[in-house]
Amino acid sequence: MHNLYTSVLVVHILAAVLGLGSITSAGIVATTARRTQQVAMASIWLFPLLRYATFSLVTMLTTGVLLDFVASGAFSAAWWFRGSVLLLLATGILNGVMRRTIGAAPAHGEGEAPVLRRVERLAYGMCALLGAITILMETKPF
Ligand code: HEM
Repeated sequence: MHNLYTSVLVVHILAAVLGLGSITSAGIVATTARRTQQVAMASIWLFPLLRYATFSLVTMLTTGVLLDFVASGAFSAAWWFRGSVLLLLATGILNGVMRRTIGAAPAHGEGEAPVLRRVERLAYGMCALLGAITILMETKPF
């Protein structure tokens, strides 16, 4: 049981370290694309980054719930755990909104900059949510 718990925790942390950075990268790509006015470049990079982000978010949620299950429900009554689940779901929703926003962006023309600004805000909003979850994970304040 202890080995299983440690293995799931390692996957959880690996998914955080190797996976969630793609959300910061999406913000940087959107900022660069807006400044250089290259919405086509943004579409090429943002879709794979956000697909990877979706996979990482699902892995975080699955391994988090699995950790609770392996620990016989030791965490699910705690508010840091419940809050993390809610914040992660909110991050997933923003991820979906961002994918739709990019999908609806005009390839060329006047509408590019506002779309990319929106994408940037969504990406950095997701980073803020991930920051809040990380604080909850490490401090477990309640
Ligand atoms: C941004 C997303 C997340 C990050 C960066 C993150 C990060 C971490 C880290 C670094 C740890 C090790 C903490 C320690 O040993 O002190 C951890 C543990 C844990 N995480 Fe997450 N986590 C995230 C999301 C979630 C979610 C959504 C859940 C719930 C479904 C969850 C459930 C847990 C559990 C149960 C533990 C074990 C706590 C313990 O051993 O005391 N995590 N997480």
